[in-house]
Amino acid sequence: MEQLQVIRTNQPKHKPNEDELGFGKYFSDHMFVAEYSSEKGWHDSRIIPYGPISLDPSAMVLHYGQEVFEGMKAYRGAEGDIILFRPDMNIRRMNRSCDRLGIPQVEPEWLLQAISKLVEIDHDWIPQRVENSLYIRPFIIATEPCLGVRASQEYKLIIITSPVGAYYSSGLAPVSIYVEDQYVRAVRGGTGEAKTSINYASSIKAQEEAKRQGYSQVLWLDGVEQRYIEEVGSMNVFFKVAGEVITPELNGSILPGVTRDSVIMMLKHWGIPVTERKISVEELFEAHQQGKLEEAFGTGTAAVISPIGAMKWEEQSIEINGGNTGEISGRLYDTITGIQQGKLADPLNWRHL
Ligand code: COI
Repeated sequence: MEQLQVIRTNQPKHKPNEDELGFGKYFSDHMFVAEYSSEKGWHDSRIIPYGPISLDPSAMVLHYGQEVFEGMKAYRGAEGDIILFRPDMNIRRMNRSCDRLGIPQVEPEWLLQAISKLVEIDHDWIPQRVENSLYIRPFIIATEPCLGVRASQEYKLIIITSPVGAYYSSGLAPVSIYVEDQYVRAVRGGTGEAKTSINYASSIKAQEEAKRQGYSQVLWLDGVEQRYIEEVGSMNVFFKVAGEVITPELNGSILPGVTRDSVIMMLKHWGIPVTERKISVEELFEAHQQGKLEEAFGTGTAAVISPIGAMKWEEQSIEINGGNTGEISGRLYDTITGIQQGKLADPLNWRHL
């Protein structure tokens, strides 16, 4: 493995007030950059001052969207130690996304070292408050200057980090969502299970329409029958129906979330029944009618757990758990964030120091 070059900034930035972090608005002092060419593979890894990059206007990512990204967080433990949460899962997923987008994969150990070194250099940017963290955003873009529709021969891998607070300004307060019956997020065989910008670009119009109607997010249905539930906003989704927790099974169009996997593992660890299967919107609203829909929540790295308090589908509007955060949602949030922050025991070995 080549030597990692480090050039430190001589103009460290002023750090934002921790009350006003929001999500992804501030960026730390440094970034990691590496290049790929077909001759040299991944090379020229360096940590340099955070700043604009230069791209040829014909760089392929700007035209055909050949890109993948990841999202993960670093936390400050009680002893001042740096904690990463299951980084191996993100790295593995990044390589699967690369494979789907025709992008060359990366050596997992090399990427983990790059992430760890960057976070170590910018450790002062990990927020002090336990509820805040340093969001880590690795991404790869196709940089070859060419307008041909084919795989780029050149890429850039960049890692930036951002001190963040709660993803939703309302924190763990339940959100209201509506069932999207016009647009779909992904179809099987498409790119839905890859973490790539194109999935997010195509979701924005529906999200804006939901906001216009007073909802926080949309509930995505499958792209074929528009019947089966897939995701909520940019998160995976879970429902508690008559004591059993149900989440849509990974079917090729759903993103395999790290928090999704952690929730499933934790529920199993607690002995709470959890099933990955198809669940239709009819079944869900019927369960509500029968008084069996007890909780609903989204899961993702950014928000961790996001309870759903109200849902609208066609002309029916329902409230879930009286519009309050459910017991399991709250317990999962406290446990997973407690493990991430190093405050609780780590029975499933998720922390990476
Ligand atoms: C997450 O929940 O972490 C997401 O995927 C949203 C992110 C793209 C901001």
